[in-house]
Amino acid sequence: MAFGFGSNRFVGIDFGTASIKAVELSIKNNLPMVTNYGQVSLADLENGTPPQGRSYDEEIVLHLKALFDRMRPNGHSASVAIPAFIGLISFIEFPLMEESELQEAIRFEAHKYIPSPLEEVALSWEVVGKHSIPGGKGEKMEVLLVAALKKEVSRYEHYVSSAGFTSDFLELETFSIVRSIINKDPGLFLIIDIGSRATNLILVENGTIKVSRNLDMGGRDITRVLSESLNITEERAKVLKKSGKDFLMTPEAALVFPALQMIAREAERILTACQAKRPDVKCKQVILSGGTAQFTGLVQYYENLLKLPVVIGDPWKGVQYDARLAKKISELGSAFSVSLGLALHRVDTVLHKNDKSAILYQKPKKMSFLSKDYLESLIKTK
Ligand SMILES: Nc1ncnc2c1ncn2[C@@H]1O[C@H](COP(=O)(O)OP(=O)(O)OP(=O)(O)O)[C@@H](O)[C@H]1O
Ligand SMILES: [Mg+2]
Repeated sequence: MAFGFGSNRFVGIDFGTASIKAVELSIKNNLPMVTNYGQVSLADLENGTPPQGRSYDEEIVLHLKALFDRMRPNGHSASVAIPAFIGLISFIEFPLMEESELQEAIRFEAHKYIPSPLEEVALSWEVVGKHSIPGGKGEKMEVLLVAALKKEVSRYEHYVSSAGFTSDFLELETFSIVRSIINKDPGLFLIIDIGSRATNLILVENGTIKVSRNLDMGGRDITRVLSESLNITEERAKVLKKSGKDFLMTPEAALVFPALQMIAREAERILTACQAKRPDVKCKQVILSGGTAQFTGLVQYYENLLKLPVVIGDPWKGVQYDARLAKKISELGSAFSVSLGLALHRVDTVLHKNDKSAILYQKPKKMSFLSKDYLESLIKTK
């Protein structure tokens, strides 16, 4: 599916477990416009050894090439997200200090939070808040630290370069999801992104990540329960899962899905901890994202358990698209939040440069991503 608008194209690629998803945006009237999108299923790799003796990485490259062959994106660079479960997000408090000192202090402290030798890790950080210490004892600053193993970063770069593209920007998918689903909306939100293998729970206040947790469970655990409870094949269970039948809220059909219960318990833990720390701030909404957000009955089910308004996030809300795409885009829904968030970052960079008044969202001062230049500088300083 391709349209011919403008010349500036920005491609975001999400390497999910169930599929690789890509979106291409351009800029029209100073706003992002969808010019192309596509996804390729990884179902044949999800459960077991890749066919024909190829390695998983070789298969990913082949699938990505197949996706690009179909999409025929313009240009040769793309932004890439690293799965949240591969990276690490921590929060560290420091006494108020200059940025130059902070850099040193972070390097000194980081090893306490990162279980791998620092020379093997790509690090990035951002000051996310400042608050006073009770009793007039000065101020503290809160720093969000992002880390990923360099070899993992290289793996994703390798996928893209093997398909004939360069990766101009890499970040943890957590940031991409927040950018497309919440952007800078004011207030406190809990995003629950449920994919196939993994779930990300992200507490976000005024567009800034406050808490980020990953659980190793998702849509494929729902498939397994359906298959075992109804004594049907996983293939059949997958189809049934997406059929619109309500296995959560219809009493005669309801089944127990331990993965969904554990996700709710983690959400409760995050919300309770936040409430204890900040009794004055109330979570406005729980926002579901990822392909599994579309599991029929899930919104109502979580609304009952969490006693908060629950909605399915719309990552397409900040982009324009051809009216003929509306139906397809509504079907794709929140499964594209990562790829859209990536492409939106690139659009934002250009809009900042070209027209300072057309700001879609404010980029953090210190980048929360692992840019290629930044990674190279880390490797050089090693
Ligand atoms: N209508 C639907 N109802 C229920 N589940 C659905 C529906 N549509 C898609 N899914 C499920 O959503 C999951 C895929 O979601 P998504 O594309 O967000 O995952 P992913 O990014 O590939 O995986 P992960 O993030 O875990 O690596 C699959 O388990 C799929 O079966
Ligand atoms: Mg995903």
